[in-house]
Amino acid sequence: MNEFYKKNIISVRNLDKQKLELIFDATDKIIDMSQDKRREIARGKTLGYLFFEPSTRTRLSFESAIALLGGTSLGIADATSSSIHKGETLGDTVKVISSYCDVLVLRHSLDGSSRFAAEISNKPVINAGSGTEEHPTQTIQDLYTIKKEKKKIDGLKIGIAGDLKYGRTVYSLLYGLRNYDVDLHLISPESLRIRSDSTYDIKKELSYTESSNIDEYIEDLDVLYVTRIQKERFPDEEEYAKVKGSYVIGSDMVKKMKDDAIILHPLPRIDEISADVDNTKQAKYFEQAEYGKYTRAALLGLILNENGF
Ligand code: CP
Repeated sequence: MNEFYKKNIISVRNLDKQKLELIFDATDKIIDMSQDKRREIARGKTLGYLFFEPSTRTRLSFESAIALLGGTSLGIADATSSSIHKGETLGDTVKVISSYCDVLVLRHSLDGSSRFAAEISNKPVINAGSGTEEHPTQTIQDLYTIKKEKKKIDGLKIGIAGDLKYGRTVYSLLYGLRNYDVDLHLISPESLRIRSDSTYDIKKELSYTESSNIDEYIEDLDVLYVTRIQKERFPDEEEYAKVKGSYVIGSDMVKKMKDDAIILHPLPRIDEISADVDNTKQAKYFEQAEYGKYTRAALLGLILNENGF
């Protein structure tokens, strides 16, 4: 039996290197497969989704992934158009939707929401973003992108810049990078450094520097991972105003980077990467978004098939 069969995907903390590499290999396999063969992987299966927060890429790449595998999808993309608006609880909603599908994808503003849903659901639950906590499928796609574009992860000099306090993709990525031997630099305004409640776990297996000055590292990085300042998570508008626009990666900055460096971003971006960077060879964030469809398809294929595919 493959080890992902009917398993929840809640945290990258549960994904060791062997499991991550298994998903990457399955992704390569999906990409290389004929369309006819792909359509057999989830034929007759249904993906359910519940998105309590806005999403473009995650929800649509999951829908696209299940369609690629010959399955179907149903769900709630806007809680105001569902019975949640009448006061139905998350627990009841999860219980009902999980009875309509084979795997359930959840995005919610509360930390712990996916873990809670997994306890109630009688189908596997995939965390598509839980509060400021984690976004595990984003990390699978981020690490896969690095591996595809740089041909390796070990030995790379990686900078993660932006909102490291509230960005849930950052926490999942840090948990994922614990599996690799990387030279890591965290770059953020002082007030947006990673939260101390998470550093204990991360520091056990990962060393990194913290700085506010991106210029210290820009010339030497192999990977620059840029994140959006998460306006919606700030308890105070004034605090957001103080850090808004702290880092703007423009083509002038890209010129200082190594020729073969790559720039990633989980997207959406607001103003932290200028549009003129999009045409540089270092910009890989749209490829990263596309890989998300295939990494999610691979994960779904493994969760839905006892013997893999
Ligand atoms: N990266 C990401 O989670 O994008 P969406 O919010 O559009 O799903």
